[in-house]
Amino acid sequence: MKDKCILITGSSKGIGLSITQRLLQLGAKVIGIARDHDSIKVENKNYIKYTSDISDLIKFEKSIKVILKNHPEINVLISNAGYGEFGPLDNFSIKQINNFITSNLTSHLIISKYLLSHFKKIKIGDIIFIGSEASLMGAKNGSLYCTAKFGLRGLSQSLRKDVVGSNIRVCIINPGMVRTSFFDKLKFSPGNKTENSISLKDIADTTANILSMDRNTVIDEINISPATKLINFN
Ligand SMILES: NC(=O)c1ccc[n+]([C@@H]2O[C@H](COP(=O)([O-])OP(=O)(O)OC[C@H]3O[C@@H](n4cnc5c(N)ncnc54)[C@H](OP(=O)(O)O)[C@@H]3O)[C@@H](O)[C@H]2O)c1
Repeated sequence: MKDKCILITGSSKGIGLSITQRLLQLGAKVIGIARDHDSIKVENKNYIKYTSDISDLIKFEKSIKVILKNHPEINVLISNAGYGEFGPLDNFSIKQINNFITSNLTSHLIISKYLLSHFKKIKIGDIIFIGSEASLMGAKNGSLYCTAKFGLRGLSQSLRKDVVGSNIRVCIINPGMVRTSFFDKLKFSPGNKTENSISLKDIADTTANILSMDRNTVIDEINISPATKLINFN
C-alpha cells in the first residue's frame, strides 16, 4: 500500500477513521477531510488533515483544489462522509432536504468530478464510495437517505462505464448497520448483540483488499450485512 496516496472524506470518526487507520498501518499516505479532527488523534507522519465542510459546496470546492495542488500524488479517493436523517418526507423542511442532498450526494459528485479529472491526467486512480444497504432498497422513513444512497450507486455504476480502459477503477461498498456515531442523533441504532452490526475492522479490511487487488481486477460493488439484522428503536 506504500504506493497509495489516499484522499478520504469523513476521516475523523467511524467508518472513515477505521479505514484511515488501517491504510496508514499498511503504509499508505492518507489525506483526511472532516469538520473536526480534534475528537481522535491519529499520530502518524503519513496522515495529513484538512478541515472542510462538505455541505458548503463553494468552500468545499476550494478545499479540493488546494488539496490537489498540494498533493498531486493522490491516486485514490474514498468518498465516505455523510450523515443520516430519517422520517416521513413531509416532515422535512426544504432547508433540511437541500442540506441533506448537498452533503450526501452533491458533495460526492463534486469531489469525484475533480478527482476523476486528476486521475485521467496521471493515468491511474481508484474511487471508492461508501454507499449503504439503503443504496439497494427503499426503506420506511428512508426517503431522504435512500434517495442520496441510490444516487451514489447510480454515480458509481455510471462512472465505472465512463472510465473503462483508462486504468481508473470505481467501486461502491454498501454496508448494513455499523456501530458508529452515525446513530447519535437518530431514533434507532443496531441491536445490542455483536452479530447485529458489522465490525469497523471488516469495512476497513474490505477497503484495503479492494485497493490491493491486481489493477486488472475491478470490484464493482460489495454488499456487507451483519449476521442478524436487528434494530433498536429509542
Ligand atoms: N454507520 C452505519 O451503520 C452506516 C451504514 C452504511 C453506510 N454508512 C455510511 O458511512 C459513511 C460514514 O458514516 P459513519 O457511520 O462512519 O458515521 P460517523 O461516525 O458519524 O462519521 C461521519 C464522518 O463524516 C464526516 N462528516 C459528516 N458531515 C460532514 C460535513 N458536513 N463535512 C465534512 N465531514 C462531514 C464526520 O466528520 P466531522 O463530524 O468531523 O465533520 C465523520 O468523520 C456515511 O456516508 C454513512 O451514510 C454508515
